[in-house]
Amino acid sequence: MTQRKFQRMLYGGDYNPNQWPVETWSEDMRIFKQAAINSASVNIFSWAKIQPSEEVYDFSELDKIIDMLTKDHYDIILATATAALPAWMFKKYPEVGRTDYEGRQHKFGQRHNACPNSLVYQKFARKIASKLAERYGDNPNITCWHVNNEYGGECFCDNCEKAFRVWLRTKYGTIEALNKAWNMDFWGHRVYEWDEIVLPNALSEGIGYEDTAFAGISLDYRRFNSDSLLENYKMERDGIREFDQNTLITTNLMGTYKNLDYFKWAKEMDIVSWDNYPSYDTPPSYSAMCHDLMRGLKEGQPFMLMEQTPSQQNWQPYNSLKRPGKMRAQSFQAVAHGSDTVQFFQLKRSVGACEKFHGAVISHAGHENTRVFKEVAELGHELEKLGNKLLDSRTKSRVGIIFDWDNYWALEYTSGPNKDLAYVDQIHQYYQAFYDKQIQVDMISVDSDFSQYDVVVGPVLYMVKEGLAERLATFVKEGGQFLTTFMSGIVNESDNVYLGGYPGPLRNLLGIWVEEIDALAPEQYNHSLFVDDTSYKCQLLCDIIHLEGAEALASYQSDFYAGSPVVTKNNFGQGKTWYVGSQLEPAGIAHIVDQVIATSQIEALVTGDSSLEITTREKAGQVYTFIINFQGEAQELPLDFVGKIDILSGKEMTKETRLASFDVIILI
Ligand code: GLA
Ligand code: ZN
Repeated sequence: MTQRKFQRMLYGGDYNPNQWPVETWSEDMRIFKQAAINSASVNIFSWAKIQPSEEVYDFSELDKIIDMLTKDHYDIILATATAALPAWMFKKYPEVGRTDYEGRQHKFGQRHNACPNSLVYQKFARKIASKLAERYGDNPNITCWHVNNEYGGECFCDNCEKAFRVWLRTKYGTIEALNKAWNMDFWGHRVYEWDEIVLPNALSEGIGYEDTAFAGISLDYRRFNSDSLLENYKMERDGIREFDQNTLITTNLMGTYKNLDYFKWAKEMDIVSWDNYPSYDTPPSYSAMCHDLMRGLKEGQPFMLMEQTPSQQNWQPYNSLKRPGKMRAQSFQAVAHGSDTVQFFQLKRSVGACEKFHGAVISHAGHENTRVFKEVAELGHELEKLGNKLLDSRTKSRVGIIFDWDNYWALEYTSGPNKDLAYVDQIHQYYQAFYDKQIQVDMISVDSDFSQYDVVVGPVLYMVKEGLAERLATFVKEGGQFLTTFMSGIVNESDNVYLGGYPGPLRNLLGIWVEEIDALAPEQYNHSLFVDDTSYKCQLLCDIIHLEGAEALASYQSDFYAGSPVVTKNNFGQGKTWYVGSQLEPAGIAHIVDQVIATSQIEALVTGDSSLEITTREKAGQVYTFIINFQGEAQELPLDFVGKIDILSGKEMTKETRLASFDVIILI
């Protein structure tokens, strides 16, 4: 059964009228109308209200909310309310709560507080989800289900421990296979019975939250925890599907959030949605990468920007206001990268508790005469004018960058060689090199079909899972280019090293052998001297490389390995592979990327240099070019676009056109 798609771009956000007196609702609706808001996400944290006790359900207030939004022709995103447990549930069944990394069992409080393996929680969550679907599932204004909210965290309780053992048994079959996978003869850890296995937390293998004595165990725990929460999602989804087969179902993700393997999750979701909360100093390329990752989760299908703040947040260390124009620029950035919605957390600022200082469409002043509201209203009218032109449009990319949660976990669990090695940061450095050149990329999984790309980039591809090296080799043999870096090809999926020399299964493909890996402290650096005499600083790690068929493009300038290769290139079949053995400064990475794109004749969206963000979406043969100025100063429009029309303003572009800071244009 295919699910009904959105009929328009959604504009709105989280709305919690049930935290307010009913007399205030109509005024809210009057204000929202002035901003052309057409959508609201409701019922997100309402479990205690709609189920006041184990036996009693009370939908009277939710009925009123849904009626009100339906009458105003809203697209309603209906949440299942399960992300914060009611107090009565904790009181009667304390096991529904989580046990943390330190082994402390939590009491009632906070949110995202359910043990994923508590059967009691599971039973209640599925039941409330299906009851909601039974009651509201046939309302055509409900265009999306929002299961739970920002699934995340982990639990280390006895129930989870038992469930972990079952999960392991299914994965490994025999205790012998498990001992081997986890290399349990190290420190005499061999186990003989399944019930000798304990969860890896501060009471066992943990050294600190992000560290472990046994990466194999901790990796499997992360996989298990991601799967456990995914089972929770699937269970609610299936509960909804009993009564509603047509409406889209999603849950809001969090970009590069570490704990959940979102590629696996996306397979179970009808549409990806996510919450974008950059801080005041987050580079726009980082937000762009997150959007592309969210688009990549379902192989290029449009996603939903489920949450962003209209201005301020409350939970960052410094919750600065979004400067005039910034919210609009960030909203269009999401659309530019594949979002079909622009939604806020939140439509109305709460009166108490920890989010009372979080930005909202309606502020504590309670009326529409605010800067933030004016900006929200202007954007609403702009989106309304755009209509459905961009809805369901797609992005074409010739470059794919691999993002892989197993690698994320494994790389950051490694004890050595350098504690500053951070997965997302490494991926972002390569993403940024393409972003700065106005070359759009897809963020892809290790399981993607590489043949649709000319270039595949896999920075710090530390863990090479079964079959991956072969698939990469086929891709390159047939003419593709593969670019990778230090800390690649080192371990298998259990975090055991491929013996025989690094980069293990990638060695032949890359034509090199890495004999040693030097770690540099923050104040230390080396230089990479390219054959064209350019030189770039390099830091963090320095691979000592022997050529085995590859050629050296750059070599180290100092230390005992001066003169030995740091960047290499290898011909393999019809294609080429590139290896970057250290962390080069951005200009150095750009220098390599230039050569890679020239080899595949990949053209940027602009001739020459520009500091503008430029991307495209396409629909029915029409290309829409989004140009956004995230710089602090005005920028000249590149001449490539002279004569084009901005569909937002209707203006024709001229040689004199300049984009002020935070300006956005969409050209046809
Ligand atoms: C998250 C949650 C929301 C809200 C916002 C605040 O994204 O989903 O409920 O707490 O953060 O930024
Ligand atoms: Zn648990």
